[in-house]
Amino acid sequence: VVISGEKVHIWRAWLDQPDRALIRAASLLSPVELEHARRGSDVVFRRRVFAHAALREVLGRCLDVPPHAVRLTRGRFGKPRLAQFHQGRERLHFNVSRSGDTCLIAVAANDVGIDVERPDGRGIDLDAFATRFFAPDERAALQQVTGRRKLLTFFRLWTLKEAFVKALGGGLNIPLHAFAVSSSSERPRLTTYRDGDVNAWTLASPPIEDRFIAAVALRRSPDSEGLSFVVRDVEPSRQAPGFRARRTGGTPSR
Ligand SMILES: CC(C)(COP(=O)(O)OP(=O)(O)OC[C@H]1O[C@@H](n2cnc3c(N)ncnc32)[C@H](O)[C@@H]1OP(=O)(O)O)[C@@H](O)C(=O)NCCC(=O)NCCS
Repeated sequence: VVISGEKVHIWRAWLDQPDRALIRAASLLSPVELEHARRGSDVVFRRRVFAHAALREVLGRCLDVPPHAVRLTRGRFGKPRLAQFHQGRERLHFNVSRSGDTCLIAVAANDVGIDVERPDGRGIDLDAFATRFFAPDERAALQQVTGRRKLLTFFRLWTLKEAFVKALGGGLNIPLHAFAVSSSSERPRLTTYRDGDVNAWTLASPPIEDRFIAAVALRRSPDSEGLSFVVRDVEPSRQAPGFRARRTGGTPSR
């Protein structure tokens, strides 16, 4: 797979796989990854193992090495990245998000963040949440809609915000009031950013499946003509090839 330009490659993996697949998936992980996966319940452990196995399948494909040979490390706030060992491939950026049994992996030639959520308003007071975490423009956008549209607007804004802080690498350590996003369906975008240039980032809400809302954020290159994406499936417990083209939002490339 050639990773270049403004294209975000998104791989989708299903994380509720049988026991026999778990053994193979776990065998691909490093001891540190396995230890990290053990934090949490049994279900979370399994899903984390499958997510990281899928990540290794994908990165192995991009680097042209077997999945177990991919060496990973984490940034200061926990964002996984390639280890020094893969020096020279620093243009390979990636990020992972999980929601329930689904995992999305974004790979791009620049800083990238991805978030996927299943819109479910049960137990959340959307307005109270927005008051606490959203910027004034985002709260105003939410106040203009009601019912299901409100729920969807909330999750569109939230996934865009999370994708952005994940692209920056700080995650939720970055104050969510320090920037604002617009979730307009034609062109989601960063509208204000206290600590940087809004034009340095491109946002998108790729359609993944009706059950989910997803967002990606990509650091823009100076000659950018806009972000496109390609979505594929990856099986987390199978060695390469294991890739099937699924849906394209740009020109597919392998
Ligand atoms: C990253 C974060 C926003 C994830 O939110 P979430 O919606 O619960 O989870 P998602 O499924 O979307 O993403 C989780 C994945 O994002 C990646 N991730 C972790 N920290 C990240 C960061 N700071 N920036 C970007 N991505 C990060 C990881 O791959 C993680 O999965 P893994 O831990 O199993 O490898 C949130 O957990 C966070 O802010 N973490 C920072 C924690 C921190 O400061 N840690 C201190 C040093 S380790």
